[in-house]
Amino acid sequence: MTSARRLSVPLSLLSALLLAVALTVADQAAGSRPAARAFAAPYQDPSLSVPERVADLLPRMSLDDKVGQMTQAERGALSPVSDLATYRIGSVLSGGGSAPSPNNATGWADMYDAFQRQALSTPLGIPMIYGVDAVHGHNNVAGATIFPHNIGLGATRDPGLVERIGRATAEEVAGTGVDWTFAPCVCVARNDRWGRTYESFGEDPDLVSAMTTIVDGFQGPSLDGRTSVLATAKHYIGDGGTTGGDDQGDTRLSEAELRAVHLPPFRAAVERGVGSVMVSYSSWNGVKLHGHRQLITDVLKGELGFTGFVVSDWAGIDQLDGQEGFTAEEVRSAVNAGIDMVMVPNDYRRFVSLLKAEVQAGRVPMSRIDDANRRILTKKFELGLFERPLSDRSLTGGVGSAEHRALAREAVRKSQVLLKNDGLLPLAKSGGKIFVAGRNADDIGNQSGGWTISWQGSSGNTTPGTTILQGVRNAVGSGATVTYSRDGSGVDSSYRAAIAVVGETPYAEGQGDRPGSLGLDTADLATLQRIRAAGVPVAVVLVSGRPLDVAAQLGDWNALLAAWLPGTEGGGVADVLFGDHAPTGRLPMTWMREAGQQPINAGDGKPALFEYGFGLTYSTSTPTPTPTPTPTPTPTPTPTPTPTDGCAVTYRTNSWGNGFTAEVTIVNRSATPVSGWTLQWAFGANQRITGSWNVSLTQSGRQVTAKNAAWNASLGTASFGFQGTHDGSNPVPDAFTLNGTACSIG
Ligand code: GLC
Repeated sequence: MTSARRLSVPLSLLSALLLAVALTVADQAAGSRPAARAFAAPYQDPSLSVPERVADLLPRMSLDDKVGQMTQAERGALSPVSDLATYRIGSVLSGGGSAPSPNNATGWADMYDAFQRQALSTPLGIPMIYGVDAVHGHNNVAGATIFPHNIGLGATRDPGLVERIGRATAEEVAGTGVDWTFAPCVCVARNDRWGRTYESFGEDPDLVSAMTTIVDGFQGPSLDGRTSVLATAKHYIGDGGTTGGDDQGDTRLSEAELRAVHLPPFRAAVERGVGSVMVSYSSWNGVKLHGHRQLITDVLKGELGFTGFVVSDWAGIDQLDGQEGFTAEEVRSAVNAGIDMVMVPNDYRRFVSLLKAEVQAGRVPMSRIDDANRRILTKKFELGLFERPLSDRSLTGGVGSAEHRALAREAVRKSQVLLKNDGLLPLAKSGGKIFVAGRNADDIGNQSGGWTISWQGSSGNTTPGTTILQGVRNAVGSGATVTYSRDGSGVDSSYRAAIAVVGETPYAEGQGDRPGSLGLDTADLATLQRIRAAGVPVAVVLVSGRPLDVAAQLGDWNALLAAWLPGTEGGGVADVLFGDHAPTGRLPMTWMREAGQQPINAGDGKPALFEYGFGLTYSTSTPTPTPTPTPTPTPTPTPTPTPTDGCAVTYRTNSWGNGFTAEVTIVNRSATPVSGWTLQWAFGANQRITGSWNVSLTQSGRQVTAKNAAWNASLGTASFGFQGTHDGSNPVPDAFTLNGTACSIG
């Protein structure tokens, strides 16, 4: 870029000025319409269509202008800031946690405007577009509302709610001037070892596709709305399907499988008009997506008809040759593959220089450059950036609003998945003492997870919000005493119930990959052991970005609630624990029996601990009275059945107040294998089943019919369980039949 060039007025602009004046005079003379405000050039006239404006602007652009539009630089790399104008940079981003100081809404709006004024100072005055990862609220900004991460939103099965969250997030993003969010991740997480599992709405492409309503929330009824921001479907394609759940790894699938599992959410997002698509770091059968012309140009832009622009991931093109940094060949490959904007993000000068040289050498055709610019400029015009380039300060006060926090709390409630409940939940709000333990009970940072204030997120009081403990205290008020002990020390049998909030601490991307254990760590296990040793019934609340390997501990827990990564509104977890809202969440991921099963997904025939879609609720939404747990009856030993017994059934029940649970074990004693079974019995009183696991249960009056699940159809032995209510009497059934044959009872 020579400085002399910046002093001359390009001939194209001069001619446009004359043309505009001539048009205005002619119009007035002809009286065809009142004199339109004189614009220096048609592209600046909002009364023209976007295609007309793009068609007028493109020929006015130099190669420097065009290459600059395809360049995205990190805010912290732009030094001096005037480089934005000097190199005609078309886009600026904040990487995770890259924030101005002060990090508040006004600080962001001031920063945004400063960058934008640089862009507007260029000869053509093309506004820049600013992108951030607002992936669960405007999560880089202190004080913003932090919503549950996508895995929790998938558990809600509520696309309308997710759209509302997109709208609220867009309002907060626009409130800081920012125009573009790198969200939603429409990744289909197939292996829970992946560090980005929580960024996925779930393992099922239909579920993820359904949640692309968030694109409508972000982009609003029209992109030029005051609070509309450009959305990004990411990461194209197959990021959630890599071998071993290895972040940025290799997705080894046939094209048919890739299309069946990972393409539908992108098709859904494109059909909703998503404005940009971000390319995945991962590979497909060994070929890096950032250089994959067939998938980017032929499939995404051709077959799916995507008309927005494709952006690379952070330094994504650098990985094409497996070496540090980027080369001319990598620039050429990425742009020719169909990437329209490159998130460089630091060495923007070198990128501009290399891409210009590739074009001048004829190795990147100008037609590709023009296509990329048309796509980028179209979105900038549609967003209204030429008319409203600076931040709208009337929106700035909406960041972190009470209304948005109430919406977030609703989302937290609806995302809770109740996986086990022997009747302990819902807890009564009054009476006795409640013990709260666990390092995730009183920690906003831990309950928000990665991509919160910083890229990786962090423990501690990182942003304003309500911890789960605070939610518990608010729920019970003065009705009960609440004692918190992070590691569980001090618990004793005087407490009527314990709530143990355990799980994972924050991480993002590859730093969250877990190739080894997926279980609770020793600190959490020690906390839980202290509670168990005291004999206090415990409701375990898992704050984690994925299912965890907890089968070995589950038997010691009276209840298990998957809370995922709820964000700033921990009150929503208490809403469910105390029955103000019965749990309605359903698993967005299959829950493993043990880590060695990974990947484990619906339909793969592996016996899950909890199936995809599983979720219990409460038999009544009002909290049950404080349960006075009776000791679990020691089961009468199963008599060794005489060899002639066809089957033996063990029925173990635990009851209290008006609740009970039961665990049933069936043993096939006959010489004939059983494949597919129906167990029937009659209750001896008014027991009502309210939830079950590992079985399909129906009840008519006192008659109960239990049918095998997919994975425990063949006997041998099978176990299942259920919970229910009774009216004070909970007798053990005295007869069972298996496929019509009477069984002995253990
Ligand atoms: C990251 C992520 C991507 C994010 C981008 C910008 O590496 O892969 O999801 O949008 O960089 O922060």
